[in-house]
Amino acid sequence: MIKQAIIPLAGLGTRLLPLTSVFPKELLPINGKPGIEYILDECIDAGIKEVIFIISNKKKMIKTYFYNDNFYKKIIKKKKDKRIKNEYKKILRYKKMIKFVYQNKPLGTGDAVLKTKKFIKDNFFLMLLPDDLIIKKNCSKSMIKIHKKYNASVMASMNVRKNNVSRWGIYKLKNKINKNNYLISDVIEKPSVKKAPSNKAVIGRYILPREIFSKLLTQKPGKGGEIHITDAIQTLIQNNKKFIAHNFSGKYLDCGSMSGYIKSTLKIARS
Ligand code: UTP
Repeated sequence: MIKQAIIPLAGLGTRLLPLTSVFPKELLPINGKPGIEYILDECIDAGIKEVIFIISNKKKMIKTYFYNDNFYKKIIKKKKDKRIKNEYKKILRYKKMIKFVYQNKPLGTGDAVLKTKKFIKDNFFLMLLPDDLIIKKNCSKSMIKIHKKYNASVMASMNVRKNNVSRWGIYKLKNKINKNNYLISDVIEKPSVKKAPSNKAVIGRYILPREIFSKLLTQKPGKGGEIHITDAIQTLIQNNKKFIAHNFSGKYLDCGSMSGYIKSTLKIARS
């Protein structure tokens, strides 16, 4: 069973400046609810019991959001407002399942994952990138089912436009398991159009094996000088570890860029 999830939140969020100059992007509201709560709700609904947040000193506000008890207690005492009481209850429920670890230098997603090494208890865990919202169908839940069936690592996947491949991790297909699930033979972080093995991209949901940590310990920086999780996954694939790409059926919303964030807000408000 997959019981633990990790969420890297220590990036700088430069594509969302100026909104992110003092405010963590994961707390930005999407139709009246912070983006991170959509991700937590997906985890809870998928049966996750513990979530590890990788934050930084600069993004301590994320922790404060879940640890603002005195403030809530005072307000509730004074106002006895049912809505506020329910919101506080919800925050307490989230807080119970969250642990915090720190990555104070944003050296890349791979380095962020490595910070959770001593907290991961099982052979596999889930990772969600909070910029990637997937609505209408719980992607993590579907991936956990695939993982159970094949006892393999799983990554969410989607076809992207050929001229856009350099924004994503792009994979090469080894063979089709069935209509929505493929075995992967290679994955390349942000390839040029020329070097991309396909137009199949990895989206921010991963079921990773604990072995990834030993690969990350020796992982050299890749594209842009960062330590990418994709490069460690490629090493595992080369070592014959099974990775399945799952073509999810929910609706993908990119909340990491300014235009994507605005569009996502509109999409959710209208859905
Ligand atoms: P991105 O590189 O897509 O986002 O990281 P970013 O760095 O936050 O934002 P931009 O590109 O400057 O606009 C994907 C996810 O990984 C986390 C980010 O917080 C984001 O959720 N991340 C990235 C880390 O936790 N640590 C890192 O060193 C890099």
